[in-house]
Amino acid sequence: MARRKKIYEGKAKTLYEGPEPGTLVQYFKDDATAFNAEKRDVIEGKGVLNNRLSEYFMTGLQQIGVPTHFLKRINMREQLIRAVEIIPLEVIVRNYAAGSMAKRLGMEEGTPLPRPMVEFSYKNDDLGDPLVPEEYIISFGWASQQDLDDMVALALRVNDFLSGVMYAVGIKLVDFKIEIGRLYEGDFQRLIVADEISPDSCRLWDLETNERLDKDVFRRDLGNLADAYTEVARRLGVMPTNSAPLGKPTLIN
Ligand code: TMP
Repeated sequence: MARRKKIYEGKAKTLYEGPEPGTLVQYFKDDATAFNAEKRDVIEGKGVLNNRLSEYFMTGLQQIGVPTHFLKRINMREQLIRAVEIIPLEVIVRNYAAGSMAKRLGMEEGTPLPRPMVEFSYKNDDLGDPLVPEEYIISFGWASQQDLDDMVALALRVNDFLSGVMYAVGIKLVDFKIEIGRLYEGDFQRLIVADEISPDSCRLWDLETNERLDKDVFRRDLGNLADAYTEVARRLGVMPTNSAPLGKPTLIN
């Protein structure tokens, strides 16, 4: 890795220059943070699990026609991705009240919502990723109305896919966050799913017991985070191994 140029280091992942123009290598760290990095720890194996789980979800999304940045997994902790311009928003979809929504509105966690609700936070750690209305997004030029419509459509497709995949293994998708990037192709640009999809960025509850199988285990000191993620991977049949990635790289069409 030392031979590669570091492009960006975030809290849970590092991006390196890719082997070809327009690509990056995304490295998954074991670091876990919460509450804007006020709480932090190193959870051995988390990066390996999230690399595999994000590969699994992104590959599935591509197979149903939802474009993502994922190209192929390189090894236990790294994947090759398309370089995109990240829109500085966290796109959150909620099916049940939990977390900040439950707190803000005084709702009981787990209350079903009348429909999937999409909200946007401005990605800025210093400000604690504040929730922003669509009018701010358009007025400040972070995205156009067309972008917003496309982002909501993309987020809802991801929601339907992930909800179904999770339901099939006895897990309720309570909410999740995605990040979306702009991919430039000549004169055109389109929006694709970027960053990661993993139990770091979703709320996953056991369908029967409501046991938490996501980063809330760490945020709220509910047990062993790696065990929770391993359980998600086990149910999905995605177990980390030392084997080389299977199959051909999945290319965005
Ligand atoms: P929230 O209820 O704390 O607003 O979180 C909503 C969803 O977004 C939840 O699935 C966790 C995820 N999330 C992130 O991925 N990153 C973050 O920084 C935060 C605050 C939440």
